[in-house]
Amino acid sequence: GGLWHYTRDLPRPCLSRSDPSETDTREDFRYMTGTIRKAVLPVGGLGTRFLPATKAIPKEMLPVVDKPLIQYGVEEARKAGIEEIIFVTSRGKAAIEDHFDHHFELMATLEARGKSKELELASAMEATAGKISFTRQPQALGLGHAVWCARNLVGREPFAVILPDDLVLHPEGCLAQLVAAYNEVGGNLVAVEDVPREQTMKYGILDVVQDPEGEKGGRLVRAKGLVEKPKPQEAPSTLSIIGRYILQPEVFDELDRQDKGAGGEIQLTDAMARTIKNQPFHGLRFQGRRFDCGSKAGFLEANIAYALEREDLRDTARDIIKRYGDKS
Ligand code: UTP
Repeated sequence: GGLWHYTRDLPRPCLSRSDPSETDTREDFRYMTGTIRKAVLPVGGLGTRFLPATKAIPKEMLPVVDKPLIQYGVEEARKAGIEEIIFVTSRGKAAIEDHFDHHFELMATLEARGKSKELELASAMEATAGKISFTRQPQALGLGHAVWCARNLVGREPFAVILPDDLVLHPEGCLAQLVAAYNEVGGNLVAVEDVPREQTMKYGILDVVQDPEGEKGGRLVRAKGLVEKPKPQEAPSTLSIIGRYILQPEVFDELDRQDKGAGGEIQLTDAMARTIKNQPFHGLRFQGRRFDCGSKAGFLEANIAYALEREDLRDTARDIIKRYGDKS
């Protein structure tokens, strides 16, 4: 449908007016055309579901095949046209900063040894100075609190949020799809997928406006409410929010209240829900396969799926799966 024709043109803003400066200041123009320049990647969590691996190593540094989760997140952001990455970190997350930094000794050694392929791999994710920043979440008070910690770095413009432990396997990435949809509808937008009803208490769930278009298989649904981790019998739908968002800066005003929600945490969904009366809120049924790499089963499956996508590993991976699949 009309939603997808934008995807290939991204990451450029759609400059549909002949001379934007005539009617708008540069900042207003950005807001209206929805150029999403910044992405917040909250990595302040404790990763308790993945102990013991996450005791001394950030969950976000766990590799799927040979790349840490966090790098997939940043690559997806870049594919969506994001210029600036903002990490919300905490104690013990220094490896994440180092990963995107220049490693002089490693580079010099690889260069001296003529290892050009490795040199390319090790330098590919080096951030341009000034395009990456880190701020600290002093206590893991919840995702809403983590996003709020980035408020001064984001400023008053719409922004993206990527939870790096959610991986989405798709050539263009999930965020690029959200940005394309955002260029059509604006407001707040989240990536959603249907989950089995018995799993609703693990997710933020959308209360959708009944929409015949949506029921015919449309990808965009309009929400009139959001509920964090509802019991199956109380869930208004089975559309669950995954870790990709586009948010208006007004969400920070709601987060300022520091209200605690489900699990005693400051929930992002609660703050988003309170903006619904003033701003449009949509869910996008994204394309691609999503893996919850914060859970052991999801992480394991992601490793298999990503290995099968890789030309250099596909045959080996198939062989391994076959060998173990035969054993019962
Ligand atoms: P999770 O719900 O997966 O929490 O957070 P977690 O603490 O990382 O892991 P578990 O549940 O204890 O195993 C989703 C995302 O939000 C970030 C996490 O780092 C992760 O990327 N987060 C969560 C924060 O940055 N701060 C928080 O206070 C909570």
